[in-house]
Amino acid sequence: MSFHIALNFEDGVTRFIDANAGETVADAAYRQGVNIPLDCRDGACGTCKCFAEAGRYDMGDNFIEDALTEEEAEQGYVLTCQMRAESDCVVRVPASSDVCKTQQASYEAAISNVRQLSASTIALSIKGESLSKLAFLPGQYVNLQVPGSSETRAYSFSSLPKDGEVSFLIRNVPGGLMSSFLTNLAKAGDAMTLAGPLGSFYLRDIKRPLLLLAGGTGLAPFTAMLEKIAAQGSEHPLHLIYGVTNDFDLVEMDKLADFAARIPNFTWSACVANPESAYPQKGYVTQHIEPKHLNDGNVDVYLCGPPPMVEAVSQYIREQGIQPANFYYEKFAASAA
Ligand SMILES: Cc1cc2nc3c(=O)[nH]c(=O)nc-3n(C[C@H](O)[C@H](O)[C@H](O)COP(=O)(O)OP(=O)(O)OC[C@H]3O[C@@H](n4cnc5c(N)ncnc54)[C@H](O)[C@@H]3O)c2cc1C
Ligand code: FES
Repeated sequence: MSFHIALNFEDGVTRFIDANAGETVADAAYRQGVNIPLDCRDGACGTCKCFAEAGRYDMGDNFIEDALTEEEAEQGYVLTCQMRAESDCVVRVPASSDVCKTQQASYEAAISNVRQLSASTIALSIKGESLSKLAFLPGQYVNLQVPGSSETRAYSFSSLPKDGEVSFLIRNVPGGLMSSFLTNLAKAGDAMTLAGPLGSFYLRDIKRPLLLLAGGTGLAPFTAMLEKIAAQGSEHPLHLIYGVTNDFDLVEMDKLADFAARIPNFTWSACVANPESAYPQKGYVTQHIEPKHLNDGNVDVYLCGPPPMVEAVSQYIREQGIQPANFYYEKFAASAA
């Protein structure tokens, strides 16, 4: 039996390795060419200390307090030279991928579907043999090379990989390099290169209620997360608020309704900022956050969208005087800047 271990490096790169039952995570990493910082390999020096974000594992008792204190172990810190996985795990490594002699992987694939969902939004799917080896944590992104140029743009996966196919939800920025390619030129069969996966905005173990806040195509990482949640279930309530500027920016509403039907604890609402909107719920995401969604701070907040929206919502939450247990965010910053 073996387990998938996601190693997240300081520079945002993620590498997946397999660890056999009984094998230490450090041994598994070295066997697969990832040199996690190590020294004693004996649980004595603390050089291999990392943070386990998710998963079950056994640390044994062959390590000393100087290397890892009881308090650190309770918080989730691990010594990878002692850690033996008992399920798939996510481990944050306090070093860059370079230092660990690894790097993001690159994949060659082809467009399988590209369609305009509305005047402002494009759905893109890419498929290829090589993508059957691509693993990522729901919420993460890749860099997609713009065909015919050496430039890349970052896009969050909007679904989990299926049969070598991955999908994206892309804002059509007028005059933008990738936007223009996708709107005017792209067709099924066109080659595309992806590099990743990347990013620390991904779904953690669900230990308390979640509040998910999406702005525009910032919905993408959440549809990937919801696919995972639909498959594994959640004991805790999850609420998504999806805000856009104009009515035509509202997309994937059927998909959200479908998730609500499949995930018993999941509720959602959408709102449109434009006061001329015909949509019943108007205003910004912050106007639709209710005290119960913040649950006196016993909540994990995930926030994704354009930088001004992420800043406005972060400030709003601070002003409520509530400190969420965890607050994760992703800004869809313009890559061309
Ligand atoms: C981690 C990360 C994940 C991302 N994931 C997604 C995603 O899932 N979906 C998605 O749609 N986008 C996402 N983005 C943004 C995306 O990478 C591109 O920046 C965006 O799609 C524009 O690319 P473009 O080539 O069409 O335009 P560009 O050629 O990059 O830009 C053209 C002009 O438009 C401006 N511009 C670019 N983006 C915007 C914007 N959003 N609003 C206003 N002006 C803009 C630029 O400054 C430039 O002047 C993500 C960004 C990051 C950093
Ligand atoms: S390498 Fe020294 S404690 Fe793990």
